[in-house]
Amino acid sequence: EERKRIFSGMQPSGLITLGNYLGALKNWTNLQDDYDCLYCIVDEHAITVRQDPAKLRKQARDLLTQYLAVGIDPKKNIIYYQSHVSQHAELAWILNCFTYMGELNRMTQFKDKAAKHADNINAGLFTYPVLMAADILLYQTDLVPVGEDQRQHLEITRDIAVRFNSIYGDTFKVPEAYIGKVGARIMALQDPTKKMSKSDENKNNTIALMDEPAVIMNKVKRAVTDSDNEVRFDESKPGISNLLGIYCACTGKTIAEAEKEFDGVGYGVFKTAVGEAVVANLEPIQQKVKDLEKNKDYLDEIIKDGAQRAGRLAERTLTKVQKRVGF
Ligand code: ADP
Ligand code: NA
Repeated sequence: EERKRIFSGMQPSGLITLGNYLGALKNWTNLQDDYDCLYCIVDEHAITVRQDPAKLRKQARDLLTQYLAVGIDPKKNIIYYQSHVSQHAELAWILNCFTYMGELNRMTQFKDKAAKHADNINAGLFTYPVLMAADILLYQTDLVPVGEDQRQHLEITRDIAVRFNSIYGDTFKVPEAYIGKVGARIMALQDPTKKMSKSDENKNNTIALMDEPAVIMNKVKRAVTDSDNEVRFDESKPGISNLLGIYCACTGKTIAEAEKEFDGVGYGVFKTAVGEAVVANLEPIQQKVKDLEKNKDYLDEIIKDGAQRAGRLAERTLTKVQKRVGF
């Protein structure tokens, strides 16, 4: 039977947050039985921003362990490091020659990142979307689960694929966005108008997947709210709305159910319930991480196996592309 292929990846650029888990990883585990999935640790993307080598290596390893701990099964999916499959970089070079400066200039993420890292606006940061196009197109991917912030990158991927196909004949599958159950969008605890991000330097904004229960309780207790003392989901109440979203994502309850549950209750009691719901969700995952970390050989084997399986698929596409361009 032909199953549709899904590609997704995450940068090992920090500690995985509750946002990454509820917004992405949790959904990935729901896709693995129905789709043919590749879940990549995109370490090549991570170096568009300066990284400490030892830290990057550790974060990549931690990301792998956390993929596994949340239930992404290495038998059902291909889990691998981008840097272990050289075809990503090779295809990216070729695709660079089929991408226009003007297209890249329009990428809003580049503008944001260039503003944030003004001392290091490197060419890799600029051509990041081309490497991402290579990631996706190498595997003849059907579907890409994308958040709002990645939509523009999927669009340029499609444009590059269509352009290449029209010059050389059918070579790449033109991928589409996976429109599934939308994962929760989790906001920063101290500034609930921006998203919780693993690259945030203020760690009080984020709950890391591996934060200890006491740390989680404390961060939730200190989350920014408002002064009306009403647990209600409302645009004008971003802090409380975010905590309600977290609570519901962790408990499976609806917003209406949660609002009813906390009707007439103060923020202190509400925050305790939110913190406990998060802890209850993360504790089993943290235990799994600790168990996996004891098994170095098993992790090494997964890394090796993933690179081999991804590499075989990638090579098919790369060979075809190289022939087409005249190598
Ligand atoms: P980060 O900003 O934490 O570094 P990335 O931009 O690397 O995250 O995104 C990795 C994945 O996690 C993407 O699928 C993205 O949509 C998802 N994601 C990141 N932050 C959040 C969030 N705050 N809420 C929900 N999903 C998120
Ligand atoms: Na990021």
